[in-house]
Amino acid sequence: MLKLLCKALACTLAFITLGTATAADPIVIRFSHVVGEQTPKGQGALLFKKLVEERLPGKVKVEVYPNSTLFGDDKEMEALLLGDVQIIARSLAKFEQYTKTVQLFDLPFLFQDIAAVDRFQTSPEGQKLLRAMERNNIKGLAYWHNGMKQLSANRPLRKPEDARGLTFRVQTSAVLEEQFKAVDAKAQQMIFSVVYQGLVTGVINATENPYSNFYNQKLHEVQKYVTETNHGVLDYMLITTSDFWNGLPPDVRSELDKIVIEVTADVNNQADRLNEQDKQRVLAAKTTEIITLTPEERNAWRDKMKPVWAKFEKAIGPDLVKAAEASNQAQ
Ligand code: LMR
Repeated sequence: MLKLLCKALACTLAFITLGTATAADPIVIRFSHVVGEQTPKGQGALLFKKLVEERLPGKVKVEVYPNSTLFGDDKEMEALLLGDVQIIARSLAKFEQYTKTVQLFDLPFLFQDIAAVDRFQTSPEGQKLLRAMERNNIKGLAYWHNGMKQLSANRPLRKPEDARGLTFRVQTSAVLEEQFKAVDAKAQQMIFSVVYQGLVTGVINATENPYSNFYNQKLHEVQKYVTETNHGVLDYMLITTSDFWNGLPPDVRSELDKIVIEVTADVNNQADRLNEQDKQRVLAAKTTEIITLTPEERNAWRDKMKPVWAKFEKAIGPDLVKAAEASNQAQ
């Protein structure tokens, strides 16, 4: 009898504790990323936090960890899947381990500008890719722009031959490795947080990134030339896990869905402006010359790099590549 009473009491206590915990403790969303706070992604994470805490006060708390302070890009996926963080906005170049389809975005000279990228991402084919990793418990919430990539080095890169023998730092992407091999350069995969150091020590001597990442990582201090090639895109997929998102109370989830839409629109509107602002900052620093190419010069890079598509098209899906190419035509 006493035993039974004790059991009942323990049960009641456990129930009370659980009840109190859910009522009093907000759901915590840890949002970890690897770039500076002034970049499109950095600003998006802060706006997400602001809107969530305004609209779901006491219910959801967002902790933002920028600049690889919590996890670098080598650890953030594992952290997400283990539940150590709940949201990340990972470069589209860093998913090949989970799906080959997203490699599409790395194909050099596929999109003529960020407007074309946007048209593709909002198309049915682009939206379908957000679900490409659901079997891995990875749920794509949205695409966030950073922008078109430029090349940098300590020698002027005007012709593809100028890149010969350089070692370019690349994200974890086989497509990007091949892209640089196509111009007789080497490619070295490296996490984002050590790129500056890599340039200082000479492990690498060239890079590719949009202006916002270039400037916010202070790469202008260690690279004398940027060539404005706009040869590819560096954008993000905002992701969470299906387990976490589906486990949220429905009212919270539907408010978060609305906020994601709002923040995405803001990030994608601001991204161009932030990149242009950082281009001006690079110029103002007077450390780095920006080389612009004539259409003929740019075509020479395209002619060297585009054959890389043939190696990946089958795995990505030829129809998907066609749909992305079609997005270059404005409707
Ligand atoms: C990089 O590694 O260059 C980028 O993916 C970093 C980022 O998240 O923008």
